[in-house]
Amino acid sequence: MSSIHHFHGDEPGFGPAFPPLYNLVYCSRATPEVDEAAVQRIIATARRRNPELGVTGMLVFGSGIFFQWLEGPRDNVTALMSRLRADRRHDSIVLLSEVEDVRERLFPDWDMELVSSDHIRDVLQDALDSATEAQNAQTLSALLSELDAGSLRDLDTA
Ligand SMILES: Cc1cc2nc3c(=O)[nH]c(=O)nc-3n(C[C@H](O)[C@H](O)[C@H](O)COP(=O)(O)O)c2cc1C
Repeated sequence: MSSIHHFHGDEPGFGPAFPPLYNLVYCSRATPEVDEAAVQRIIATARRRNPELGVTGMLVFGSGIFFQWLEGPRDNVTALMSRLRADRRHDSIVLLSEVEDVRERLFPDWDMELVSSDHIRDVLQDALDSATEAQNAQTLSALLSELDAGSLRDLDTA
């Protein structure tokens, strides 16, 4: 019999099976100079740096909007978010969700996966429907209006 015990999250009596995982989701608007090459550079940086932070996640890009899911140790995710806030390649950052949980990672194998989406409008609308803070709802509405007015670029369907 193997002496290695594989822990499972739903298994009682073996202490914390996973360290607490901080999960942060935001969306933002890419600034005009951001093209596909710029997005690829962002992904390359994320893949180089996220492993040492223990951060995994997903970056969705579509119609000039970023949508990012970050998960990892709280301090590292928070530090990364400060860097992201200072990054001039996007603005109108809206924090959609921030929770600390004891659970498995959703994206254990993705240092940062790029997902291209034609359905970013649905993502923003869902976020608006569930927004509880007025400030967030306002920014999301503004992003949706810009999207509908066609003032945000539609790179991935070009
Ligand atoms: C939408 C977006 C997502 C990004 N995601 C990450 C990421 O997951 N990890 C990361 O290290 N940098 C990411 N970056 C880049 C950071 O903002 C920053 O430029 C990079 O970490 C280098 O930071 P430094 O120059 O202060 O060392 C992202 C940038 C943007 C605009």
